[in-house]
Amino acid sequence: LKHIGVLTSGGDAPGMNAAIRAVVRACTHYDLKVSGIHEGYQGLIDGNFQELDARAVAHIINRGGTMLKSARCMEFRSKEGREKAYEQAKKQGLDALVVIGGDGSFTGASLFSKEFDIPVVGIPGTIDNDIYGTDYTIGFDTALNTVVDAIDKIRDTATSHNRLFFIECMGRDAGFIALNAGIAGGATEILIPEDDKEVDDVVAKLKASRDAKKSSNIVLVAEGDQLGGDVFKLARDAGERLPGYDIRVSVLGHIQRGGSPTCSDRVLGSRLGVAAIEQLMSGHSGIMVGLRNDTVTTETLHDAITKKPGINRNLMHVAEIVSL
Ligand code: F6P
Repeated sequence: LKHIGVLTSGGDAPGMNAAIRAVVRACTHYDLKVSGIHEGYQGLIDGNFQELDARAVAHIINRGGTMLKSARCMEFRSKEGREKAYEQAKKQGLDALVVIGGDGSFTGASLFSKEFDIPVVGIPGTIDNDIYGTDYTIGFDTALNTVVDAIDKIRDTATSHNRLFFIECMGRDAGFIALNAGIAGGATEILIPEDDKEVDDVVAKLKASRDAKKSSNIVLVAEGDQLGGDVFKLARDAGERLPGYDIRVSVLGHIQRGGSPTCSDRVLGSRLGVAAIEQLMSGHSGIMVGLRNDTVTTETLHDAITKKPGINRNLMHVAEIVSL
C-alpha cells in the first residue's frame, strides 16, 4: 500500500474536516502518499485530485463543511460510472480509498470495493446518525447542539408570547436528531418516524400541557415523521383543534449542517480517520470504521447500509416522562 485517496460524499457534516486531517496525518505518520479527491465520487471520475501533506490540513479541524467539497454523484450509481472511476484511480496510481459519508455514499463504496480490486474503507459522516455499526456518526453531535441552541432561542420568544411552536428538524428517515434534541430542548412533544403518533396524540398532549399551565410549548418534528415533511399542515390541523393557541412554525433547515464541530465530533473524526488508515494497512476492505462503547470497531459496508440502527427506546420513555 503506497498511495491512498480520500473523499467526502453526500451531505456534508461538521467534523468531516477533522476526519480528513486525521487520514492525511495518519498517512504521513505511516509514510504513505495521500491525495484528497475533490467533490466526492465526481472528482474520482474526473481525476480532480490534490496531493496532501500534513501542513495542507492545518487549521481545518475547527471548520465546518469539508475542505474537499462534497457531492451526491449520479454517475457513480451506474456500473459505467464506477468503471470510469476505477480507470481514473488506476491512472492516478491509487492503491486504496477512504470514503467519508453516509448511507448513499457507502452504497457506492460497497459496490466499488466488490467490483474492482481496490480496497475501500468508509468513515460514517452524516448529521443523521442513521448508520448501523456505530453509536455516533461524525456531525451528529454538532447538529444536536445547533438544534438545541435554536430551540432555546425560539423558547425565549415563545414564552414571551405564550405561543406554541412547531419546529421541524432534519434527520432524513430517522428520528435521532429530534429525539435527543427534543429531550435536551425541553420539547412538549417529539415526533419521530420510529414512533407512530397521530395528530390526536399531539392535540391531547398539548391540552394536557395547557392544563398543567405551561407558558410555552415546543413540538419538535423530525422531517421523516409521518406528520413531518409538511409541518405547516400539521400545525394547521392541530391548530384547528386547539382554539385559543397562538401557533408559529419554524423549519430549521440547513443551519443544522453547518458550524464549527463540537469537541466530540472533532475527536470522533480524528479517531475514525486514523482507524481507517490502520484498517487499510491491515489489509481490510469493504468495511466501515465506527465507534461502539467508546471503542473503535468495524462493520461491513453491506451491514452498515442494510441494517437499521435502532432508536433508543429508553430515550423515548424518558422523553415521555420529562415532558410533563
Ligand atoms: O443526510 C443529511 C441531510 O441533511 C438530511 O438530514 C436531509 O434530509 C438531507 O441531507 C438534505 O439534503 P440536501 O442538502 O441535498 O437538501
